[in-house]
Amino acid sequence: KPIVLSGAQPSGGLTIGNYFGAIRNWITLQQDHECLFMLVDLHAITVRQEPALLRERTFDGMALYLACGLDPQQSSVFVQSHVPEHAQLAWILNCYTQMGELNRMTQFKDKSQKNVNNINVGLFGYPVLMAADVLLYQANKVPVGNDQKQHLELTRDIATRFNNLHGDTFVVPDPFIPEVGARIMSLQEPEKKMSKSDDNPNNFVLMLEEPKKIEKKIKRAMTDSDEQARIYFDQQEKAGVSNLLTLLSCATGESVESLVPQYEDKMYGHLKKDVADAVVSMLTPIQQRYKELREDETALTQIMAVGAEKASAIASETLKTVYERVGLVARP
Ligand code: TYM
Repeated sequence: KPIVLSGAQPSGGLTIGNYFGAIRNWITLQQDHECLFMLVDLHAITVRQEPALLRERTFDGMALYLACGLDPQQSSVFVQSHVPEHAQLAWILNCYTQMGELNRMTQFKDKSQKNVNNINVGLFGYPVLMAADVLLYQANKVPVGNDQKQHLELTRDIATRFNNLHGDTFVVPDPFIPEVGARIMSLQEPEKKMSKSDDNPNNFVLMLEEPKKIEKKIKRAMTDSDEQARIYFDQQEKAGVSNLLTLLSCATGESVESLVPQYEDKMYGHLKKDVADAVVSMLTPIQQRYKELREDETALTQIMAVGAEKASAIASETLKTVYERVGLVARP
């Protein structure tokens, strides 16, 4: 079976962007792949986190993963920091990554512009830790949203470089990016992506948000002041409307092409109502399962333990090979 690995940060709740761009595809890949899914807490601390909150959010994230349908029987579901090989391999790969390569990462540029008071070395090296996450498991496919594409290209470059220097060591992974939903846009400013770290909470919908709030946010979404107020798909000219059509397509499973004719003589209000209804009815069962799962921290801890053990078994093999290849003397 091909190997699949992915993860999300346990910083703040997950948005419907995270779900449509990534998590939803994790579920479908589970059946015929060997899957590993993490909560990347080590990545999360590249921006300042309140320790007690980070702990809560890691449990929240685990419960939400399960509520979305990740099956700990089929997949390894774990917390990144529980498998120390991630940090260990990241160090090695730091020595195989150029400053210039990291300087070109658009996510680093964005985040350091937003966060001028804490441009730490971890933030700069973030993509190297991500490369370590993927390469440790010899992953073939990495299901992510569009914003992680550049990081995966770097991962491929690092893997290829290491292989060329030391002989085949790493599988060079392919990104797996969905055709629809890979880039869900902000509700109020549809020219930028939806992000949970946005200062304006009206820009995103969280998976665990109350239905009433979700409806409100979607009904307030920015459309445009096009005089004809026509509904069609055009990401340049009609960014807001196109984003709503994408959301509706993701939440209902109907293609954008088959949705557009249904709105031929309808108004923006109709579309928004349908989007809100579809998103809410998709999220309701997930929210219900989440509530039950979140109550039992002992059970969640148990799942974390099993997941970490399964992941560790693979990660430690790869790390051992890497240490040998690099010339580190094995601990006697
Ligand atoms: P994170 O936590 O920012 O996001 C998790 C996943 O959600 C996708 N995503 C989106 N997709 C569509 N529309 C959006 N608006 C949107 N926002 C986020 C992201 O592309 C991602 O797939 N660096 C990663 C986490 C990571 C990882 C890894 C992923 C760490 N190590 C190894 C894959 C493999 C991140 O910050 O994701």
